[in-house]
Amino acid sequence: MKIITDVVSDILICAVDKTFNNTIDHSDITIQFTKEINLGHFQTNIALISSKKLSKNPKEIATQIVSNIEIGEIISKAEIAGPGFINFTLNSNWLYSYLHKFNPLEWNYDLEIEKGTTVIDYSSPNIAKRMHIAHLRSTIIGESIKRMYKFMKREVIADNHLGDWGTQFGKLIVGYNNWLDKDAYQTDPLAELERIYVKFEQESAENESLLPEARTELKKLQDGDPVNTNLWKEFVNTSIAEYNKLYNRLGVEFDTYWGESYYEDSMPSVIEELINKNIAKESQGALIVEFDESEHLHPCLIRKSDGATLYATSDLACIKKKMETYNLNKLIYVTDDRQSDHFKQFFKVSEMLGWSVNNIHVTFGLMKFADSHFSSRKGNVIRLETLLDEAESRALKIVEEKNPDLSDSEKREIARVVGIGAVKYSDLSQNRSSTIIFDWDKNLSFDGNTSPYLQYVYARIQSILRKADYKFNDQESSLEYESEIEQKLILQLTKFHSIIVKAAETCKPNVIADYVFELAQMFNTFYNAINIIKSEDQQKVSRLILIDKIAMTIKSGLNLLGIEVLDRM
Ligand code: ARG
Repeated sequence: MKIITDVVSDILICAVDKTFNNTIDHSDITIQFTKEINLGHFQTNIALISSKKLSKNPKEIATQIVSNIEIGEIISKAEIAGPGFINFTLNSNWLYSYLHKFNPLEWNYDLEIEKGTTVIDYSSPNIAKRMHIAHLRSTIIGESIKRMYKFMKREVIADNHLGDWGTQFGKLIVGYNNWLDKDAYQTDPLAELERIYVKFEQESAENESLLPEARTELKKLQDGDPVNTNLWKEFVNTSIAEYNKLYNRLGVEFDTYWGESYYEDSMPSVIEELINKNIAKESQGALIVEFDESEHLHPCLIRKSDGATLYATSDLACIKKKMETYNLNKLIYVTDDRQSDHFKQFFKVSEMLGWSVNNIHVTFGLMKFADSHFSSRKGNVIRLETLLDEAESRALKIVEEKNPDLSDSEKREIARVVGIGAVKYSDLSQNRSSTIIFDWDKNLSFDGNTSPYLQYVYARIQSILRKADYKFNDQESSLEYESEIEQKLILQLTKFHSIIVKAAETCKPNVIADYVFELAQMFNTFYNAINIIKSEDQQKVSRLILIDKIAMTIKSGLNLLGIEVLDRM
């Protein structure tokens, strides 16, 4: 089934072509949903924007176009508004049959628009450390963007760019060899690796031989020493196994775990290319790339005077490797905004190299806690696991109050879906650049713009549908929607697919959250005004069909945010 905006714009394009003998560029012809339903359903500004080109008054152009618009099965009315807008009203019967066939999961946008692979680099923690809340935002924002791309049937790869290479491994190996507590390592490997790392830092302040020892171990690792390589692999694999436990809880999945180490081999050729193309130059023994003053960027350090490569070198090698591996179109990186300059620098270098890839840095602000118990722990030290546990246990308390009669396993399942959903929604529903103030009471509330509220609306619709016990079939006779709120709901549903395009283009999950919240609120207005179950025959069927579509759309929208729903709550 065609997306509704495409149906209407096809009719408009026909009329414009007919009026101006195909002289107007189709890319200029756009339509929008109107702000007020009593103005009609759609609006176009084509007469206004082509008025200069055609040296004609916009109203005159609009009149000509309107006279060529096919009025009939789909469009019932086309009118001129204001200085030259054209408003369209859809034929109710056509709109209702469109609603009847409407399926939010169907995607019919042009796939040719964006060819090639998009790689999304997100979560990307540094090995041998437990994840803390600072990793949450990258993980769930990245996952949501990935889901949008998948939904739009684009080729997408979810890549976890692990911090798995660097000087810390020399220290870890020394710590491991000297102080490892095997039992602790068994029970909580990352906690133990963190402990020996901290111990290394403390001990090396007193024991001068430790740092050189760590350097020797690091050098051995870099030169491929089998014992150290195996140890390093063990750190990486253990870390991934631990991270996967959290990713499972969050419903997050990656296609690749290509950490920084993966790009080591590609670095020499990047450096060579930078030198050959005269982009990088020597400066006090180091290799740097300088930028034009207008860029307001510090020079990008490619290689230090001791030969060591840097974060930017590795990221450039990463682009190169991905261009070799995929038919690469876009690289999206999701990190907090403190890394902005780093990304600007190597994006610019990639451009100077003439690499044809679309690099996008998706940034976000910090997450802070309203709860003093949480905020009193300094900075980032709140572990992600602690946060998720807390969310589930708080949700469980609420479920126990609301639904004391459910079985324990049902209560736990609801608490899991509500708790994890609340954590994700509190983040994804806000503009990602803002600092997030995390407030348990607000996030877990069943009122207001929260995930429990939306999940509850979904469950409520399921409960109405169960009570009505109606068997949907495709051959519905005429549907009836008389009230304004029903009209508004139908139109809101038909906007779903364009909302996803907008969210994906801007990498802003909050666009979807806003949409789903608005839909849920509109449903509640409808639900409070009308008794669906007690409606008469055809009206009841029409209403059941409408709310079924609303539920499907809420579910699909939340799924794009990585949030689950339940049929009963
Ligand atoms: N490991 C880095 C960190 O924890 C994030 C990596 C982001 N991706 C990248 N290609 N630089 O800050």
